[in-house]
Amino acid sequence: MSSDPGWSSAVSAWLFPSSWWPLLPFIMLLVAAAFVVAFVLLLYMISPLISPKPLKLNGAHVVVTGGSSGIGKSIAIECYKQGAFITLVARDESKLVQAKKEVEKCAVNDKQVVLCISVDVSKDYSQVESVIKQAQEKLGPVDMLVNCAGTAVSGKFEEVDVERFRSLMEVNYLGSVYPTRAVITTMKERRMGRVVFVSSQAGQIGLFGYTAYSASKFALRGLAEALQMEVKPYNIYVTVTYPPDTDTPCLTEENKTKPLETKLISETSGVCQPEQVAKVIVKDAVQGNFNSSVGPDGYMLSALTCGMSPVTSITEGLQQIVTMGLFRTIALFYLGSFDSIVRRCMIQREQSKAADKRE
Ligand SMILES: NC(=O)c1ccc[n+]([C@@H]2O[C@H](COP(=O)([O-])OP(=O)(O)OC[C@H]3O[C@@H](n4cnc5c(N)ncnc54)[C@H](OP(=O)(O)O)[C@@H]3O)[C@@H](O)[C@H]2O)c1
Repeated sequence: MSSDPGWSSAVSAWLFPSSWWPLLPFIMLLVAAAFVVAFVLLLYMISPLISPKPLKLNGAHVVVTGGSSGIGKSIAIECYKQGAFITLVARDESKLVQAKKEVEKCAVNDKQVVLCISVDVSKDYSQVESVIKQAQEKLGPVDMLVNCAGTAVSGKFEEVDVERFRSLMEVNYLGSVYPTRAVITTMKERRMGRVVFVSSQAGQIGLFGYTAYSASKFALRGLAEALQMEVKPYNIYVTVTYPPDTDTPCLTEENKTKPLETKLISETSGVCQPEQVAKVIVKDAVQGNFNSSVGPDGYMLSALTCGMSPVTSITEGLQQIVTMGLFRTIALFYLGSFDSIVRRCMIQREQSKAADKRE
């Protein structure tokens, strides 16, 4: 068998070069890539070590404001299914009694109790503090507080009654400050606890029609970030959750007066069921995750708007770093399409006004 001496000498020159210098950049690139992979793997491995220890819901006392309806009721049911003792807080007593019956159907042991408290969480701090004290006397210190009481109003900025701007801040913002203030000292003494703030996707992006609502939900994020920094050394973890449109009495009511633009923009993502949203919120709160989002849209929004918010897992931090640029690109397309919906609605309205005048 004959071999081509030219070809074999070329191969041996490539395999055993007289000098390694030409290959140096390639080798350095390989080494750098190996370091990056090893570093990422190491971070993934130590991630569970720096994450908070999950809260055991079995036997825990969970207070849910807004627990008589919608997302709050589903959160109460989800916690009850995991063995928690529940205090439901809302204003309407008959709705509270009805919700209590529904929650009790999901008991996993015969020791579990559901307590109902009728109070307006947004009006008088001393009243809120006193009912929380009563609940703690009956069911023990609060292990987890879920601030879910809230309401929504949509409409064009100049058409929303100025009084509604105040009332939304009262219910959605102060209605979360007061119950939190009432439980935080005991949580700090016990060096444990979870506080959940139920914001909204409208608390991550300002959309047409939500000038009053968005402001009240963005406020929760600021409160949560500052509070988390204060209470982390006490082993207390804060979760802010941003539910998408969810099929509840609140959404049905809001839809009656929603501007067309807001409706069309909302339709670009679907409507979730409260049980599905509650499952995600409870899971994230138990794990002590700061950000809690539902579905792919929610995931993208949370990564995009993470800013200086705390992370409780290295995995989450890495995902935010890697995905930020791509998600911003996608978001720009969304913003463009929302702007064009608003422009089209305005043109249609002006055209129909002009037609009315002509008639
Ligand atoms: N549904 C959605 O599409 C959606 C999306 C994102 C975020 N969210 C947020 O999720 C939370 C729950 O909404 P939801 O849709 O489940 O509404 P929902 O079914 O209307 O429930 C609202 C709950 O809050 C209570 N509540 C309202 N004002 C209160 C007050 N001043 N003091 C005490 N309790 C009060 C209500 O009971 P009473 O009226 O008897 O007091 C009820 O239990 C709200 O914060 C809302 O902004 C909802």
